Amino acid sequence: MIKLKQISKSFGRHQVLKNIDLAVAKGEVVVILGPSGSGKTTLLRCVNYLEKPGGGEIAIGDFKLDCRHARKKDIHQLRQKTAMVFQQYNLFRHKTALENVMEGLLIVKKLPKEEARKKSIALLEKVGLGAKLDAYPSQLSGGQQQRVGIARALALEPEVILFDEPTSALDPELVGEVLAVIRKIAKEGITMIVVTHEMGFARDVANHVVFMDGGVIVEEGTPTEVFNHPREERTKQFLKRITPELNYSI
Ligand SMILES: Nc1ncnc2c1ncn2[C@@H]1O[C@H](COP(=O)(O)OP(=O)(O)OP(=O)(O)O)[C@@H](O)[C@H]1O
Ligand SMILES: [Mg+2]
Repeated sequence: MIKLKQISKSFGRHQVLKNIDLAVAKGEVVVILGPSGSGKTTLLRCVNYLEKPGGGEIAIGDFKLDCRHARKKDIHQLRQKTAMVFQQYNLFRHKTALENVMEGLLIVKKLPKEEARKKSIALLEKVGLGAKLDAYPSQLSGGQQQRVGIARALALEPEVILFDEPTSALDPELVGEVLAVIRKIAKEGITMIVVTHEMGFARDVANHVVFMDGGVIVEEGTPTEVFNHPREERTKQFLKRITPELNYSI
């Protein structure tokens, strides 16, 4: 179970997150939607301390971190429990697919090399890249690179995987293969928070949908509640813009 309590973040005088509360049950897939600049990426980055929140509390299972008084040790522990999949993949360019996945196992998990290698091969096979172990990122398509990114996140066996628009940098024909992999691991019961504009995916895979705007959670609920019966005007406007074929009465 992950609980965010009153998470806030400002850049200078601009308050980007305004006391965000969010609870995610174990095994749940939460999709976050919202217009550009609403704070989605910042929220994910706060959850694993790529961005230091201005205040609030992050709890994962029994572990609790008070953002105002977090020590290095706490942050290290939090990072062990979270993994992020980035929009731009963020792979090491000079390492092969296999080496990219092994890196975290060697450095963070401190596994012996042979064990790290075996585990990484199994994960790359799982994401359909068993034939690309020795390829460098430049020799892989965007969809393949992102699947390496997903294998790398899975390798760390985090309590939660954070996906920040994992398919938005991809050509349309490559989106499906990445979503299929995310769907597959969602079915295995891995807890996920996913920022995406893929509405079909959100409807199918999400247990819980959160709509953010202006640094606050405007509305949240099941996919049916948010997509079929949005209550808030801002949610209706947003959904209408991104899925014009749906007719929301506003
Ligand atoms: N490092 C930073 N320094 C200053 N301002 C920032 C920084 N990072 C984000 N912001 C600002 O915070 C706000 C929220 O940004 P964020 O990237 O979280 O939005 P988003 O919802 O992910 O948008 P998008 O859909 O475009 O990815 C924006 O106004 C952005 O300009
Ligand atoms: Mg973003």
